[in-house]
Amino acid sequence: MKYYIKTFGCQMNVHDSEKLAGMLQSLGYKEQADTTKDADIIVFNTCCIRDGVEQKIMGNIGALKKLKKSKPHLIIAICGCMSQAEGRSEMILSKFPFVDIIFGTHNIHALKDLILQYQEGNRRHIIDVWPEARGIYEDIEISRDGLFSNAWVNINYGCNNFCSYCIVPYVRGRERSRNMADIVSECRSIVADGYKYITLLGQNVNSYGNDIDDENINFANLLKEIASIPGDFRIKFMTSHPKDLTLDVIKVIAENEKICKCIHLPVQSGSNNILKLMNRKYTREHYLSVVENIRQFMPDAYISTDIIVGFPGETDEDFMDTYNLVKDVKYDGVFAFMFSKRSGTVAAKMDNQIDEDTKKDRIHKLLQLSKSVTKDNNKQSIGKIYNILTINHEDNNTIAQSDSGKTILIENSSLELNKFYKARIIRFANNKLIAEIIN
Ligand code: 5AD
Ligand code: SF4
Repeated sequence: MKYYIKTFGCQMNVHDSEKLAGMLQSLGYKEQADTTKDADIIVFNTCCIRDGVEQKIMGNIGALKKLKKSKPHLIIAICGCMSQAEGRSEMILSKFPFVDIIFGTHNIHALKDLILQYQEGNRRHIIDVWPEARGIYEDIEISRDGLFSNAWVNINYGCNNFCSYCIVPYVRGRERSRNMADIVSECRSIVADGYKYITLLGQNVNSYGNDIDDENINFANLLKEIASIPGDFRIKFMTSHPKDLTLDVIKVIAENEKICKCIHLPVQSGSNNILKLMNRKYTREHYLSVVENIRQFMPDAYISTDIIVGFPGETDEDFMDTYNLVKDVKYDGVFAFMFSKRSGTVAAKMDNQIDEDTKKDRIHKLLQLSKSVTKDNNKQSIGKIYNILTINHEDNNTIAQSDSGKTILIENSSLELNKFYKARIIRFANNKLIAEIIN
């Protein structure tokens, strides 16, 4: 018996899918099938962050109709953020009555029970979407994906920020932090298993511990604890909210060899008017001061961002504030999105919605700019020293990855794989950075 899990959306979902895979394996499903046709159970772990993603998921579910007809024993399950969003599970079932099980974000741990319930209940549809979280479930089997390079670890779930455009607080619930001892012990076993990177996950990692009544339980201390685990590994984390990334945390990152100097710091907009309407709770000036602090303590830090263009009421001037901010910060990565109305959010009901052509025009301009900034950054990186992990041999070369995920080539070498080295960038060719080893 094989499973086929398809993940839509963010890293949070990617990691949730590792838990789904772990649970399916413990039920006797052997491995991920190559295609849906070879699977005995199909699970779509869904996202609803933008309308485009939802449309794509609907298309993917629709495409399973024929398969289910020709293979009645096949189980089709839909879970994750889209099934959690209001009214969606009923809508999915009415459009696609061949779907067997629908569950949400708060009970992904229940997959095994749901399958058994479905089989025992004469294969009648099950919709089981919990309106809210009922605590944190530890001890879920995890089948970690891929090679021994990166392991994801949840540190907090949910979000309390209610940015006016965002559906996440409605589908992932209020902020809940995991117990620090549980996180650290998971990290210890990950290191013992040979993983080289641990990536800590939270909608807002900086608010880790805010819901726990102990002032020593905070993100800075969590980072220190994990970094003190003996072994050859490095720590990454995402996502940081600019209103909560304190100087304390920046210093801990700067001072610790094991913590990668990679910070994903979504700005969303460079205009104070729009930031206010977005309920982001910081100003352009505050954001730039956080970037300045990062650069002061970590001059070579990799900073990336998310941006929304075409938020309701965004004028050309507002957009130019964003454009100029991207130019000034010289981001290493820009993820830009066109505003998408999410029902139930404040921004969906705002006046002055922006037309699609204007959104397209703005995103195009931003992406052009970010391409040229990336090119400049690559040129600037010549002479810089990166921490790299060797991942492959190709022709006569060793392929490695920088902490920030950039591909690095070490020509005419056959270095030991899955090992950290320090490398100096010597050239930039065909979108690849060429480096020499210095240790
Ligand atoms: N429309 C467009 N982009 C959105 N994002 C979140 N909600 C929306 C929306 N309604 C973007 C934000 C966030 C990223 C994960 O997705 O930039 O940081
Ligand atoms: Fe991730 Fe948000 Fe999409 Fe859920 S809605 S999968 S939290 S991006």
